[in-house]
Amino acid sequence: MVTVEVPVVDLILETPRLILREFVLDDWRAVHEYASDPEVTRYLSWGPNDEAASQHFVAAVITKRREQPRSVYDLAVTLRETGKLIGGCGIYRQRFGEGELGYCLHRSYWNRGYMTEAVRAFLEWAFTEGGFHRIYARCHPANTASARVMEKNGMKKEGCLRDHMYKDGRWSDALLYAILEDEWREFSGKNRNE
Ligand SMILES: CC(C)(COP(=O)(O)OP(=O)(O)OC[C@H]1O[C@@H](n2cnc3c(N)ncnc32)[C@H](O)[C@@H]1OP(=O)(O)O)[C@@H](O)C(=O)NCCC(=O)NCCS
Repeated sequence: MVTVEVPVVDLILETPRLILREFVLDDWRAVHEYASDPEVTRYLSWGPNDEAASQHFVAAVITKRREQPRSVYDLAVTLRETGKLIGGCGIYRQRFGEGELGYCLHRSYWNRGYMTEAVRAFLEWAFTEGGFHRIYARCHPANTASARVMEKNGMKKEGCLRDHMYKDGRWSDALLYAILEDEWREFSGKNRNE
């Protein structure tokens, strides 16, 4: 039998202020800076991370990136000017045409529009090159910043998933947001110069 090596192609997304690039193993320390912050992970199903968990996350993302066909697109969010890694943003292919979006940012960089910018680039890639038809994301009902990031990118609230998340012995609801391919085309056309 002949085995054909499929080359691993790096995904890089550029925005005015950010470069979203593939993770490398050394990134775990920068990831740990935000992933170990309880304020950052307050509304997430994971964290706060110990060092081993942050190392495991980066290693797992790198391993999954090599899978063919690729289903995990988790990128490091870095500042264009300095190269500093300030967060992560990813789309996980769930089944044909559908992906789940997730993101996380270092607290020192909140409320400057960075994640709205990163998600916009990711959605553009997902609907033009990534082969996605529907992208959804879930957030804790109290996570207003996350809901705003989705709304500012044209994602629509589809409903509330009751007792959907479990953390530290407690269940909580999750809001479900999504955007479809044709909705993205309309939204991005209208907001092209923003
Ligand atoms: C959610 C998160 C990624 C947002 O990143 P960000 O770069 O700060 O987001 P942006 O600056 O692009 O937009 C944030 C929006 O939320 C608003 N916001 C932030 N905190 C808010 C609050 N407590 N109440 C109301 N609005 C709030 C901001 O004003 C802004 O909206 P605006 O542009 O209409 O003013 C960041 O807060 C984060 O990493 N949180 C922890 C991890 C997390 O929750 N990830 C999402 C999991 S679903």
